[in-house]
This record gives sequence, C-alpha cells and structure tokens, in this order.
Amino acid sequence: MSADAAEQRPPGATVGVPRESGSGERRVALVPKVVERLRSKNVSVVVEPGAGLGALIPDELYVEAGATIGDPWSCDVLVKVAPPTAEEIGRLRSGSTLIGFLAPLTSPETVAALREAGVTAFAMESIPRISRAQSMDALSSQANVAGYKAVLLAAERSTRFFPMLTTAAGTVKPATALVLGVGVAGLQALATAKRLGARTTGYDVRPEVADQVRSLGAQWLDLGIDAAGEGGYARELTEAERAEQQKRLEEAITGFDVVITTALVPGRKAPTLVTAKAVEGMKPGSVVVDLAGETGGNCELTEPGETVVRHDVTIASPLNLPAGMPEHASELYARNVSALLELMLDDGGAVAPDWSDEVLAKSCVTREAE
Ligand code: NAI
Repeated sequence: MSADAAEQRPPGATVGVPRESGSGERRVALVPKVVERLRSKNVSVVVEPGAGLGALIPDELYVEAGATIGDPWSCDVLVKVAPPTAEEIGRLRSGSTLIGFLAPLTSPETVAALREAGVTAFAMESIPRISRAQSMDALSSQANVAGYKAVLLAAERSTRFFPMLTTAAGTVKPATALVLGVGVAGLQALATAKRLGARTTGYDVRPEVADQVRSLGAQWLDLGIDAAGEGGYARELTEAERAEQQKRLEEAITGFDVVITTALVPGRKAPTLVTAKAVEGMKPGSVVVDLAGETGGNCELTEPGETVVRHDVTIASPLNLPAGMPEHASELYARNVSALLELMLDDGGAVAPDWSDEVLAKSCVTREAE
C-alpha cells in the first residue's frame, strides 16, 4: 500500500497496555517489537507511562516503535498479563475487549464482573492446545520459563553438585533429579537439569509423554497409572489411584537429590505427590521445588510462596516464576497476545471476531450483550 493510501485508511483498533498492578509482577503484555508489528496492521497502541519498566523497557522504546504514552483504559482492546482487579475492571469501557490471563476456572467472580461491565474477554488459559494456536499458547511460553527457573533454584539451594566431577580430590557423582508432572514446565525442567549434568527421571500420569521424556535423555518412571483426560490434560485420579500413586512415589522419591513438581489438573487443587513421609525419607540436603504452589502445592509440606526446611530437606514453592525473568517472559507473552489479537482483526485492523473460529470461541469467556 502506498503512503497516501495508508493515510486514507480509516483507523483500526486502539490497543492499551497498562502497567501491571500485582505485587511482584514485572511482566508487560506488549513489547516494542510487537507494537511495531501491530502498527503495520493499522492498530494504534497506547502504553501507560512506566508499563514496561519492570521488564526494563523504557517508555522511549515504545514511542520509537510507534506507540503513544497515555491512558490505556479507554482503548478498544486492553491487553494484560495478570487478571484485572475489581478496580481495574471498573476502569474498562463497556463494549471494549480484554485479553489476558483471567483464571476463568478458579476465579469465576472475575468473569462475572467483566460480563457485568459489558466487556468481551479472552482468557489466554482457555486457548485450545491445537497446532494452529501454538503461537498463542501463553501457558506453554510461561511454563517454559518456570521449568527452567525451577531447576536453577534447585541447583542454587542444593548442597551438592549437579554434574559429575572428576578432580584430583576425588570423583563426585552426578545429582539425581526427578520431575513429577511432565507437561511443558516439566519437560523444560528435565532438559535444563540434564544440561547442568544431573541424571534425570520423569513421571506423569499421561503415559504418552514417556517418549518425550526419553528423548530428553531422561529415564521414565512407570507407576502403571493412566489418567489422560480431555484436551491433552490429566484428569483427577480416583481415591484408589491416588493412594497407590502416593505409596509408589514415596518409595521412589527417597533415591533422588532433587525433586521438581509441576503437576496440575485444570480448575482443581494440585494433587499431592510428595507426602511428608517421602520428604522424611529423602537424604539430608535434598531439595524439592514445588511449582504447583498457586493451587496448593504437590508436596504435603509446601508453604506456597515460601522456602522451608523440613527433615533437613529444602522445600521451595516460588510463586509466579515467569515474573522473575520479565524480559524474555514478556517477549514471548507479547507474541502470544498479538497472535490472538491478530486473529480477531479485520483487514482494516478493527476488532471483528469470527465466532465460528474455534480458537476465538473457546478462549472468549464472556461476550458483550451475552
Ligand atoms: P499442566 O500444567 O496442566 O500439568 C502439568 C503436568 O502435570 C501434565 O503433564 C499432567 O499430565 C501432569 N499431572 C497432572 N496430575 C498428575 C498426577 N496426579 N501425577 C503426575 N502428573 C500429573 O500441563 P501443560 O504443561 O499445560 O500441558 C497440558 C497438555 O497440553 C499436554 O498434553 C501438552 O502436551 C499439551 N500441549 C499441547 C500443545 C499443542 O499446541 N499441541 C502445546 C503445549 C502443550
């Protein structure tokens, strides 16, 4: 399109990027590179002053990318990382669109408030895990960050080396690391622990991941339980399966220096995989990093958000690990958000969702005038 034609184009959507308000949340929903991309689609971006500072992105870089600095809340579309607070929902314009993590399964009150406010909201968590939507899969992009960080944290807390060392003073055996729950975070944890030189083992209730675990040079721990559920997720175990799993895991866990847990069941409390008895059986100096703290934790002794030492074993349950790597986490998240946003734009850059599109229909948690 010529410059003249571009000037004559009617304006497309305005997209607002607020400064995240949650304590410790350093990510931002759009980064300058993605602003540039949206500008080329006839979208105008308004960034709240200081929105990128947590991710070390100054306002000037947004301006250079074509954004304006101002009040994002009256834009056609607001893009966020964390779910909006009640106060933030109050600032959204009726008829506008919101995109972000909205925790629809665990915070139905947020969705109800958005419906009440006349907002059309898309939850990043609800995007179906299909190949076409991989570029929008924020659960995966952020889980990769969490899995990586969890291993670094374990290595830092461990009293032992991860790699095998052969030195003049003797040989040190490599650490053994067990990853419980091998979804996206778990696979990244296995890969990262392996790179640090640990001997790795993975376990999940979805037996189809055994080959992925082996392809990362890890052993597969087979407990003979198959709990594959819908949409690629695990289902909740029955009482009998749960008891059997805990008993078998108690025996297995004691042999490991490091246990990283990532097991989640959408919309449910996290399953208990590491019992107090299992922790008691671990060698002093061992480490458990529990990534399921936000939904109660996978370890019975976990205190979400805290690092505690029990029976000489360190149990760390960091919350929101992706916020601790805000630069890359924001970059990946921004691409996810922009891919979803682009799917709902018409040729002129205006918001015009095609509700027959499975990705839009499934990720939309409330629609204007529903
Ligand atoms: P998640 O974060 O919901 O759960 C983490 C892991 O915990 C899962 O592997 C789950 O099977 C496991 N788990 C649940 N209960 C357990 C228990 N009692 N004991 C042991 N493990 C337990 O999973 P995530 O990472 O969000 O992945 C969900 C699915 O989505 C997977 O099938 C993954 O392969 C798939 N996926 C598909 C993509 C695609 O585009 N096709 C992209 C990314 C993920």
